[in-house]
Order: sequence, then C-alpha cells, then structure tokens
Amino acid sequence: MMSRLFFLCYSQYMIYSGKLLKAIKTSQRREPASGIMTAITHGFGRKGLIPLWAGEGHLPTPQFICDATAASLQRGETFYTWQKGIPELRQALADYHARLYDRPYSSKNFFVTGGGMQAMQTAMQMLIAKGDEVIVPTPAWPNYAGPLRMMEAKPLAVPLSFNDNHWTLDLDRLFAATGNSARAICINSPSNPVGWVASLDELQAILDFSRKTGIWIIADEVYSRFYHEGSHAPSFQQIYHHDDRLIFVNTFSKNWAMTGWRTGWIQAPAELGDVIENIIQYNTSGTAAFMQRGCIAALEHGEEFLRSQVASARANRDYVAECLSTIDNVQFETPRGAFYHFFKLEGMDDSTATALEIIDKANVGLAPGAAFGEAGEGFLRLCFLRDRSQLETAMERLVNWLQDAHL
Ligand SMILES: Cc1ncc(COP(=O)(O)O)c(C=O)c1O
Repeated sequence: MMSRLFFLCYSQYMIYSGKLLKAIKTSQRREPASGIMTAITHGFGRKGLIPLWAGEGHLPTPQFICDATAASLQRGETFYTWQKGIPELRQALADYHARLYDRPYSSKNFFVTGGGMQAMQTAMQMLIAKGDEVIVPTPAWPNYAGPLRMMEAKPLAVPLSFNDNHWTLDLDRLFAATGNSARAICINSPSNPVGWVASLDELQAILDFSRKTGIWIIADEVYSRFYHEGSHAPSFQQIYHHDDRLIFVNTFSKNWAMTGWRTGWIQAPAELGDVIENIIQYNTSGTAAFMQRGCIAALEHGEEFLRSQVASARANRDYVAECLSTIDNVQFETPRGAFYHFFKLEGMDDSTATALEIIDKANVGLAPGAAFGEAGEGFLRLCFLRDRSQLETAMERLVNWLQDAHL
C-alpha cells in the first residue's frame, strides 16, 4: 500500500516537474504544435464560429461510399489484411490513374496508407536519414517540415516569390538550394496554401534535375483534381518513367470528402514495394479492409461527386476574390488550384495574433500565414470549400472586420 502511494506521488511529481518530458528525445519535445492548431485550439467550440481554418469542406462522405464500407463490415471483413492494401483497391487505383492520365498503370505501384499524411511519412522514412536536407518550397503545408525535424532531418525552405499579386517558384534558386547534397525535394502542386500550380515545363525541369543529380522528388498531388482550369492539374504523372526517383503521395480525403477516414496512397516504383510493405507493417500494419471497400467505391463511382465539389469550390473562390478585392489593404492571387485563398494584409506583422483576434471579434476561423513557414508571415489562409450561405456570412463578418482593422 505504502509503496503504491509512493509510486503515485513520485509519478505525479515527475509529471509536474517536467522531468518526464525532459527525459524524451529532444527532437520530439522541441517540435512546436502546428500554427494551424494554435488557431483551432483558440476558437474550437465557440458558439456561431465559422471555421475556415482547416483543409476540408462541410459535406459528409457520400452515402454510396459509406454503404460499401457498411456492407463490408456486415460481410465480416474485420480481420488483419494486406499490408500493401487489398488487391482490389490497388487495381482500382491503377485503373483510376489510367482513366485520368491516359497511360497504362500497374497495381504493383500503389500502396494503401492511413491518409496522405502516412503516405508522406512512409516516403520520408524510406528516403530520409538523420541530418539529410530536404528542399521545401514555402509557404508550405506545415506537415513537411514538422515530421522532418522530428526525424532529425533538415527541411530547407525555398520561398516562392509574391510579386504583383502572383506566386512564382524560381527554379534556379530551387536547384541551387540543393547544394548537390540534399536528398529530396517536396513538390506540392497545386499548393496548399498559396494555390500555385507548376506548369508541365516546370515539372519537366525538376524531373530532369532529379535525373541528372539523383535527388528524389516527393510529389504531393493531393489537390490535383481541385484545378480550376481543367480536369487535373499538370502532373508528374504525365511525364515520369518507372525508374525515376519519384514518389507520389495522395489521399482520399479531399476529392471524396473523406478527411476523417484517414485513407490515402503512395505510388512508387514497384522495386520499392517490399520496403514500403515493411514500413507499413512496422507502423500501422495496414488500413482496415472495410474502409478500403469504401475507397474502391469512391474511385469507381465518385467522379460526379468530385466534379460537383470542384465546381462549387470554383464558384466560391470567385466569390471570395470579389469580396477581398473590395478591401484596400488586402492583396492576393486568385488561386489556380486547391481550395484556399492566401491573402496578404498590409501592416500585419503577426498573423497568429491577427487570426486569434479575428476569431474573437469576427467569429471566423482562419489559419495564420506563419503556420506555413516564414514566407507565410503577413498572410492569412481561408478555406473556401464551404456551404455557400455559411461562406457568405463569414465573408460579411470578415470584410467588416478588415474594413475597421487597425494593424
Ligand atoms: C498539401 C497536403 N498534402 C497532404 C495532405 C494530407 O491529407 P490527409 O492526411 O488528410 O489524407 C494535406 C491535408 O491537408 C495537404 O494539405
């Protein structure tokens, strides 16, 4: 009894004195929370708040996808399953890509993961060792630099330029930053948060550079279908060869309103299949088979839903652009892809404080630009994949706040 009491008191002491925290790896302890979470934590659960801070829409997953998963559960597909993904889903992924890019694909190149995030983690775990440099054009989704630092690798930011309301990536600067020793380049096109879209020529130049130098490309094309000038954005899919040092990460989250499912995929040279299988084995040991049945339904029957999502995103994008252009001290480029407006607010030097103030005063949740790296400071990100009437209320509140803002 006494020793139990002692143990309890001791463990409480250890927790409160922070000793346990000090006893874990520095790289894990030091990593700050994502800046997007700072805003969410501040505003979550507030009455009437309209949340435009995260990368998801308001629609639930379509019924036909849920039905496929429910049927699978009822059939009893509840056992351990294939680490790489069930063969039917890997084939459905190959068929989906063949339809989209009009070239042949093999199921051997597709591996099912727990969301785009685990696809990214798997790619990093496979390619990146402690101390390795990885080039990340910024502003960028914080989930490249965070996990890289946590694995004691070095993310190197290469800022995109924002001139005359236009984002560009200077390829000479990108290539120079590799210093011939960087291990990989993360290319996110269409990009979160700025909506920049690489042209096919730019992608070709990056691929040529990889072929010349041996640097790996991690192609994050999760927003490739949210492209406002065609059925898909220009893609490495159109130009790659099977022996390129190129890994794609992708997800079911965005296209089919499946953010909560945590299902995605990695596409890689078949030669790496056993390694990827091993990484998945020692990580999650695979994605639930019943969820994968829903994913097959999304790929095979989800085109109409996807098209309607993209169409409403495009209309919302234009509506938000119209609202923002009425404010003098706001600058932005109307995004060509993805579903975010990333706008600069003249005079704002602390986007995190401003995002919190907008939550408090306007009851609208935005993500601070600083969450996307130093190059994002001075900007705010607004997700416009939203129900139109909610978006209209949010914009009315935001425009009122912006008109009166004293920064
Ligand atoms: C650029 C980018 N890549 C990958 C992902 C990962 O998506 P998920 O883990 O939800 O499947 C996201 C999600 O917001 C993203 O914005």
